[in-house]
Amino acid sequence: MEYSDEELLAELGGTELEISTSNSNDDMYKEYSKYKESSLIVNNVYGTVTVGIEELEINDGGANIVCYIRSGQRDEIKLGMYVIVPYPNGDHMFGRVSRIRYRHMYPTDDATEVHSERASLEHMDENDYKLIAHIEPICILYKNLKTKVERKMVDRIPKPNSPVIQISDKSHVQIGLNIPTEGLFLGHIAIGGEKILTDSFPPTVPYYLRNDYESGDPLPFRHTIVCGGTGTGKTFLTKNIFRQFIGEDVRYNVRDEKETCQIQPCLVILDPQDEYSQLNESNSALSSDIIDGLDSEKIKHDGIENTQTFTAKINGENYLGCSSAPITEFTIPFEMVKGNPWLIYGAEMNENQIMGLDKLLDDYFNEDKEPTYKKFIATIRDSEKKAHYTQNDIIHEATYESISRKVDNPQFKRVFDQGAVSITSIIDKIFVPGQVNVFPSGHVASNRIKDLIILAMMTMIVDNKLSTSGAKEIKNVPIILGLDEAHRYLSKTSTTQAKIIVRKFADAARQGRKESLGLFLITQDPQDIDSTIMKQINTKIILNLNNENAINSLMIPKEFEKRIPYLKKGQVIVHSPDNSNTVEIAGLKTCVVKHN
Ligand SMILES: Nc1ncnc2c1ncn2[C@@H]1O[C@H](COP(=O)(O)OP(=O)(O)OP(=O)(O)O)[C@@H](O)[C@H]1O
Ligand SMILES: [Mg+2]
Repeated sequence: MEYSDEELLAELGGTELEISTSNSNDDMYKEYSKYKESSLIVNNVYGTVTVGIEELEINDGGANIVCYIRSGQRDEIKLGMYVIVPYPNGDHMFGRVSRIRYRHMYPTDDATEVHSERASLEHMDENDYKLIAHIEPICILYKNLKTKVERKMVDRIPKPNSPVIQISDKSHVQIGLNIPTEGLFLGHIAIGGEKILTDSFPPTVPYYLRNDYESGDPLPFRHTIVCGGTGTGKTFLTKNIFRQFIGEDVRYNVRDEKETCQIQPCLVILDPQDEYSQLNESNSALSSDIIDGLDSEKIKHDGIENTQTFTAKINGENYLGCSSAPITEFTIPFEMVKGNPWLIYGAEMNENQIMGLDKLLDDYFNEDKEPTYKKFIATIRDSEKKAHYTQNDIIHEATYESISRKVDNPQFKRVFDQGAVSITSIIDKIFVPGQVNVFPSGHVASNRIKDLIILAMMTMIVDNKLSTSGAKEIKNVPIILGLDEAHRYLSKTSTTQAKIIVRKFADAARQGRKESLGLFLITQDPQDIDSTIMKQINTKIILNLNNENAINSLMIPKEFEKRIPYLKKGQVIVHSPDNSNTVEIAGLKTCVVKHN
C-alpha cells in the first residue's frame, strides 16, 4: 500500500484505525471510507487528491493538484488556507488552497428556465454537486536525519487518493511558510482575519521578524514600511512593533575601533501627530489573561520607562505633552544650515536662487564664528553687502532680492536659535541604547516649521551615521528611525529640497545595514515614496488600502494584492521575502502600550 500504518495514524491524530495492507489505491480509499464516520477524520481530513476531473500534475511552472472536498467539510474550505498532503515516505506537501469550484455530480444542464424556477421554489440538494479545491504547493516538509523537519522545493507529485489534511502542527506552519521561530513579534498567522489554530500550546502561530545574525543582518536594518489608509491602525500596530525593540534581549552588533559590541538599539520616532510618547505608559486595559497570553509568546507589553520626549522650542507655540514621558526642549541652531543649506530652500526656489543662497551662506559662515539666523538676515539685508554681490556680478540684483525675500521668513525666525539647549549639544542624552526618543511636531501649526524640524532631525541622524567622521554618540549606537507620514518627506516630487533628502535617505537605506541604521517608515501613500528608497525596503507591513496606485506600488504577489482593499482593522499582510513567504497575519487586538 501507499502509506504505512504509523504514517496514517500520525496524520489522523492517533486514532486507532485498522489500515489495510493491500497495495491498491482503491483499497486504500475503501479503508478511508470505512472510517468516514470517525469524528477525528471528519475534523482533520478535508478530502482527497483526485485524478478523475483533471490530471494530477506538477511541472516546472507550477502544479495541478485537484481535490475532492467531503460534504461535511465544504464550509471549512477557504481560499488561501493552508493544508498538508502526506507522501508515502512520511514527508508532507505543504500548500495553500488557490481555487475552489463546484462541478456537477452527474451531467445535467441546470442553466435552464425550469431549473431556475424550481430552485427558487424548493430547496435543492448541494450534494448534487462536487466541491473541488485546487492546491498550490508551497514546499515539501521532510525530516532531516530523522530529527529536524526542513523544507525543500516541491519536486515530487502527491499520490492519487492522498488525504488533504487540516494543519494541526505549529511547526508545519512555521517551517512551511519559512517563518522564524523567534525575533520581533508582528502578529499571528491568519486566514481571512481568523487566526490559524493548531493543537500546540498556545494554539496560535506567532509571526516573528528575524532579528539575529544567523543568516545575514537582522531584518530591521533592511528597513520596514507600514502602510494603510487613514484610521486603519498604522500607529496602533507600529506601537506594538516598536515596543518589541526595547528589552535586554534585543541587541545588535556595533563595530567599535577595536571590537564588535552587542548594544541595545535606540528608537528615534519623528512623530508629526504626537502619538508615540505614550510608549512610556502601560495599557491599563490589558487583563491578566491577555498578559499571560502575551508572556507565553514572549511579547513585550509594559510601558518603556526610558521614553523621552524632545520638543523644538518654537516662538509662540507651547507643547503640553500627551504622556508622562519627560520633556526636553531644544532649539535648532542656525549653524546646522552650514552643511545643509537646503533646510532653508523652501519649495519655490529656482536654480539661480539656490546657487546665490549657497554663496551667501558660505561667505556668512566663513565670516561669523557664532552664526545666528538673525545675524544672517541682517547681513544679507545690509545695503553695502548687497552692493558687493550685485555690483560685482556675483548675484544678479533681481535674484538677490528674491533670495532675501524668501529667506527672511517669519516662520524661520520662530525656529532657529530660540532660548533652549541646542540639539547638537545634547546628542549624548538622545542617542542612548535602550532609550525611546519621540520628537512630536503635532502641536506646531505651521507645516513649514513642522517639516523643518523633522528634516533637521532626519539629516542629523543620517549624516552622522553615514559619515566616517560622524559623532560617536550617533555612529556607535544601533538606531531604528521611525518616520510617520513618511510620504511627506520622502516623496518623488521634484523640488531641490525633496531631492536632497531623498538622496540622503536612499544612501542611508543602502548603507543602513552596515551602520546599524534601520528605517521604519509609516505612510498612507506608499505610492508617493521615492522608488529608490522603496526598492531598499525589505519588509512591507500592509493594512487596508483602497487606492489602486498605492496597492500596485507595493509589488507583492497578486493573490495577496487583491485582498488588501478588504482587510479589516487588525488584518495585515506581511511581505518580507528575506524573512518568510508572504503571509496574512492578525495583529494584536489590544495595544501593548497606551494608545488613545
Ligand atoms: N488591531 C486593532 N484592533 C482594535 N482596534 C484598533 C486596531 N488597530 C487600530 N485600532 C483602533 O482604530 C483607531 C485608529 O487607529 P490608528 O490611530 O492606529 O490609525 P492610523 O492608521 O494610525 O490613523 P491615522 O491615519 O490617523 O494616523 C484607534 O482608535 C485604534 O485604537
Ligand atoms: Mg497614525
